[in-house]
Amino acid sequence: MTSTSQRRVLLAKPRGYCAGVDRAVEAVEIALRKYGAPIYVRKQIVHNVHVVKTLEEKGAIFVEETEEVPEGSIVVFSAHGVAPVVHEEARGLSLKTIDATCPLVTKVHKEAVRFAKDDYDILLIGHEGHEEVIGTSGEAPDHIHLVDGPDDVANVRVRDPEKVAWLSQTTLSVDETLATVAKLRERFPSLMDPPSDDICYATQNRQVAVKEMAAGSELVIVVGSTNSSNSVRLVEVAKEHGADNAYLVDYAEQIDEAWLEGVSTVGVTSGASVPDELVQGVLAWLAERGYGDVEEIESVKESMRFALPHELRKDLRTV
Ligand code: F3S
Repeated sequence: MTSTSQRRVLLAKPRGYCAGVDRAVEAVEIALRKYGAPIYVRKQIVHNVHVVKTLEEKGAIFVEETEEVPEGSIVVFSAHGVAPVVHEEARGLSLKTIDATCPLVTKVHKEAVRFAKDDYDILLIGHEGHEEVIGTSGEAPDHIHLVDGPDDVANVRVRDPEKVAWLSQTTLSVDETLATVAKLRERFPSLMDPPSDDICYATQNRQVAVKEMAAGSELVIVVGSTNSSNSVRLVEVAKEHGADNAYLVDYAEQIDEAWLEGVSTVGVTSGASVPDELVQGVLAWLAERGYGDVEEIESVKESMRFALPHELRKDLRTV
């Protein structure tokens, strides 16, 4: 057992909310205030159980599909983006839509449309079934092929190996994606790159921060939900960069005391969809067990902000 004087916490920075999540959550909150409940939200607005529960308590109703929204209602599309067909479904039901798709996801949609217009086969690196991948693929279903990591490269079939481009989901592991691209380039030397990074600044920064923090930690606790891609990646990156163990928890209560056995330094971080109050809960839980000495390790400064969805800005101007 480590003595109390040896126990400490390394807290990664940046962590938690990114600009796209902040904007999406604020959009639902403002819509609830401006139009009143209920406000329908297609899919989880961001992948965090606490955020979803809090918004539900304020009057948001989360649905899986557009057809579940009553005709003429207000619906918010989640930060992960939607395929064009979803906008058509909403028009068919005369819904008022507020599109909270993160602008950095929209950027990838536009890249897909442009490559498809030039008749490229587009290799979209991402996780099968993830909402963002479904939305991006819907922009050019006849041109996009999903590549789910380096091991999937051998399965790729294209029409013309000279006319191939790659794009990616915004929340992947940077290192694994580079490995996938390298393998793709071995097969397709003419592979075109996206015009700029698809893995977003927030995903990249949180991975840089967790690498630095994990190198000095025996145990890393990542606060985030199991369906949050960027949070799950943080656990993997922590294990690959020095932590003996790394776990994902939604709340402090999910931490197992046994994880602390023989541990002097605990690293703490959180995914891009996690409010900081949950991290503070974890820090308080650790402090009660002798890990009250907290050092914040800041690796990158962040100042990104996005304007609210334009539908909302327009209505706010007419108040
Ligand atoms: Fe957007 Fe990246 Fe956050 S794509 S929603 S800024 S994790």
